[in-house]
Amino acid sequence: MDLKSHQLDRRAFLEKSTKLAMATSALTLGSHLQASAQSGKKLKLALVGTGSRGSATWGRAVVERYSDQVEYVALCDINPERAEYAKKYMGVNVPVYHATDFERMIQEARPDTVIVTTTDCFHAHYATRAMELGCDVICEKPLATEAEQCQKLLDTEKATGKKLIVTFNARHGTTSEAIKKIIAGDELGRIISAEFQEYLDISHGASYFRRWHGKIRFSGSLLVHKASHHFDQMNWWLDAEPEEVHAFGKVAFYGKNHSFRSRNCRSCPYQEKCDFYWDITQSQRMMDLYVAHEEVDGYLRDGCVWDNDIDSYDSMTVEVKYRNGVILGYSLNAYMPYEGQFIAFNGEKGRLDVFNYPRPWEPESPDFRLSLNFKEPRTWTPEPPKDAHGGHGGMDGSLKDLIFLENQKDPLEQLAGSRAGVMSSLIGIAARKSIETGERVKIADLIDIPLAWRF
Ligand SMILES: NC(=O)c1ccc[n+]([C@@H]2O[C@H](COP(=O)([O-])OP(=O)(O)OC[C@H]3O[C@@H](n4cnc5c(N)ncnc54)[C@H](O)[C@@H]3O)[C@@H](O)[C@H]2O)c1
Repeated sequence: MDLKSHQLDRRAFLEKSTKLAMATSALTLGSHLQASAQSGKKLKLALVGTGSRGSATWGRAVVERYSDQVEYVALCDINPERAEYAKKYMGVNVPVYHATDFERMIQEARPDTVIVTTTDCFHAHYATRAMELGCDVICEKPLATEAEQCQKLLDTEKATGKKLIVTFNARHGTTSEAIKKIIAGDELGRIISAEFQEYLDISHGASYFRRWHGKIRFSGSLLVHKASHHFDQMNWWLDAEPEEVHAFGKVAFYGKNHSFRSRNCRSCPYQEKCDFYWDITQSQRMMDLYVAHEEVDGYLRDGCVWDNDIDSYDSMTVEVKYRNGVILGYSLNAYMPYEGQFIAFNGEKGRLDVFNYPRPWEPESPDFRLSLNFKEPRTWTPEPPKDAHGGHGGMDGSLKDLIFLENQKDPLEQLAGSRAGVMSSLIGIAARKSIETGERVKIADLIDIPLAWRF
């Protein structure tokens, strides 16, 4: 290795270790939120979007585990019947507001923090309005589905001085954390390129095409809805921000790619012969949460995966060039026979492979392989934490502990703010634009924020 690249290497390493050390001592975003509770009082929460994620992960599970720290003061949804059901499910006795009364809810219930778990395209509206009305915000991913929303969110946060947390639970968990530590260390040297393949299977993948996620106007496409997790992880692992994006995408499996279709599974005349027939009546929770209230808003949770109006791509490839020079190749396919991820990093000194998918042909095979140039590869599977709690293999629990419990440290910077939320959404938005136009898209052309970066 020549002297110049050694110096570069060392400088990058020092910057990374200094940053991690600073993060250990810095006040977490969660502590900022806690500070807004009146002294000696619990943090007052309002929830907008009382569907599956809202009523369970941010509803019942929060009430059950963090009642010494927080209390719900109001719930809001465009479907008040669903909100009433959520109120019972969560076991809280609070007023319920229609979406059109969101502002009245803030004025009357006076929450410190608003949790946003609506359909994706409305996140930015509620997050922005909540900050304008004096609240901090915890927002589910994706933070935004359009570039204009990103700009408004950042401007509002700056103008109001309020705090916004984006709930990137995928930064948590053994695999994600192990990757972060390796990339932040020096073993691979300067990272030159990265690879990320996401496989969604015919059950999980299809579930997106049964509901609003299959329409770009609601979800921003899976490039925003789903890939916002992966783009955020990559930005965070690489400690870098995106500069330019190019993508291809198509609806090649679901939607119009079939010989028959219906409105939804329950009313379908093809139940016997459709491989994707799904009997929602088998789940009491689904019946209570969605079917019981579908007359109010027409939300069919068991919509047809062959709906002609589906325009969210099910097959996509994206190339990202980062401001620090790293290039990323990303793909997502939503109709796979199995589920998982393959992730790799190519550095000056070697390569890291992460096999995060089932391999029945080699069941004992480790998930991680670190191959350093001129050395024997090292393989291992990181041990999951013994105290994991909450959904998604403990990732939700770890995230909520950081937000709601006092005196938490965040040495890996797992709690994401608005800038991280915007950056991950913008990669998906830029990819969508690239698919529509056939052009490469510069992030700086989508948003007017300083793009200075330390490298
Ligand atoms: N981080 C994760 O792992 C994870 C997992 C699941 C879902 N999510 C996110 O959580 C959010 C909700 O997902 P879900 O699966 O609960 O969906 P859902 O369809 O079950 O719930 C969405 C709720 O929003 C309500 N809503 C729709 N438009 C509204 C509006 N304009 N105003 C107020 N309420 C409105 C709906 O009536 C519904 O109750 C999504 O943004 C999704 O990306 C994140």
